[in-house]
Amino acid sequence: MKITNKEEYINSVKRVIITSEEIQEKISKAGEYVDSLYDGRPILLVGILNGCFVFLADLARAITVPCEIAFMSAKSYNGTQSMGEVDIILDIEKDISEYNVVIAEDIIDTGRTLKKITEILKKRNPHSFTVVTLLDKPERRVVEFTADYSLFVIPDVFVVGYGLDYDDYYRNLPYIAEI
Ligand code: IMP
Ligand code: MG
Repeated sequence: MKITNKEEYINSVKRVIITSEEIQEKISKAGEYVDSLYDGRPILLVGILNGCFVFLADLARAITVPCEIAFMSAKSYNGTQSMGEVDIILDIEKDISEYNVVIAEDIIDTGRTLKKITEILKKRNPHSFTVVTLLDKPERRVVEFTADYSLFVIPDVFVVGYGLDYDDYYRNLPYIAEI
């Protein structure tokens, strides 16, 4: 999609489904959840790029246990012969065997991305492994995957904003909207 004018860009956003206030409320609770799990022990907070960047920035500031930050990125293939394949295109440099790993993901859709990332990271024997997702679309699952903590469960609609994109646009909207 090539956006050519501002009106078209804004008019494509149908309706806000989660406001920024609602997001912030749930983020404080998610921060308390992580704090209570680790009770002062240090964690490695791992964001899955690009979608995580806004959520991770807010979640990190809601957590009070000692916290290091790292990023991974995965590419999934849709509408091609390798459909359903997930490749890791950016990996964590640290040896995670000494860490309590907390994954921060924007959305779990088919479940393929997090299933693959979880398989890879668990083989590296972290002390513990927890998945926190901003959004969860359970109706769309094609592989079994359940997060330890989901801030919002949403129906099968395509959403943008707060890090989530459509063709790399709309990530900077401060709310989550249907498109
Ligand atoms: P998966 O299908 O669970 O592997 O999710 C793969 C990726 O698809 C997510 O990390 C998002 O980047 C993207 N995705 C899935 N659903 C949506 C959506 O509604 N809006 C924007 N991106 C989405
Ligand atoms: Mg993503």
